[in-house]
Amino acid sequence: MDMGKTKILIVGGSSGMGLALARRYLDEGATVIIAGRGEAKLSAAQEELSYSGSLEIAVVDISREDDVAALFQRIGRLDHIVSTAADIAGAYRLLPEIELSAAQRVVESKFYGPLLLAKHGAPKLSANGSLTFVSGIAAYRPAARGAVVAAVNA
Ligand SMILES: NC(=O)c1ccc[n+]([C@@H]2O[C@H](COP(=O)([O-])OP(=O)(O)OC[C@H]3O[C@@H](n4cnc5c(N)ncnc54)[C@H](OP(=O)(O)O)[C@@H]3O)[C@@H](O)[C@H]2O)c1
Repeated sequence: MDMGKTKILIVGGSSGMGLALARRYLDEGATVIIAGRGEAKLSAAQEELSYSGSLEIAVVDISREDDVAALFQRIGRLDHIVSTAADIAGAYRLLPEIELSAAQRVVESKFYGPLLLAKHGAPKLSANGSLTFVSGIAAYRPAARGAVVAAVNA
């Protein structure tokens, strides 16, 4: 695919797979917006990528519908939306120790968040646009203490 004229939003682009994906798309000439909750983390990622011309950052918490709606108002037309967002660290616990709030953050970042991205982002996509949401192998091979993450990935 010729990425040269495409504009891509990567939620979760401030670290891990999202950051790697941003680098790949930038190398291919795309305009990339990396998004996440932490402004300092996004700025550090922007500096690390060092492609100021075609790279923007956007602060958004995808568990908040008003945040998501405002994001798409700001950035306008898009070709692709990717979400690698995941707030899962606090949920890897034995069931008696798990906090409901940690489990809720997994669901919000990996289920409701992508749902909101689709709801508000799909109308902004070009005719050949796409939505890509990352699940995880835990859906099929759950790790110890990973019941919540496995369930949400599935
Ligand atoms: N790494 C692995 O081995 C592995 C294996 C299987 C599947 N996966 C899945 O692959 C995806 C990427 O994994 P990764 O290791 O690259 O993750 P990661 O490095 O922990 O990155 C997660 C990103 O999501 C952002 N984020 C979290 N909650 C958010 C929210 N509510 N709104 C907006 N942004 C949010 C984080 O930034 P802020 O915290 O600043 O918001 C961060 O940029 C995840 O879905 C993960 O479950 C990973």
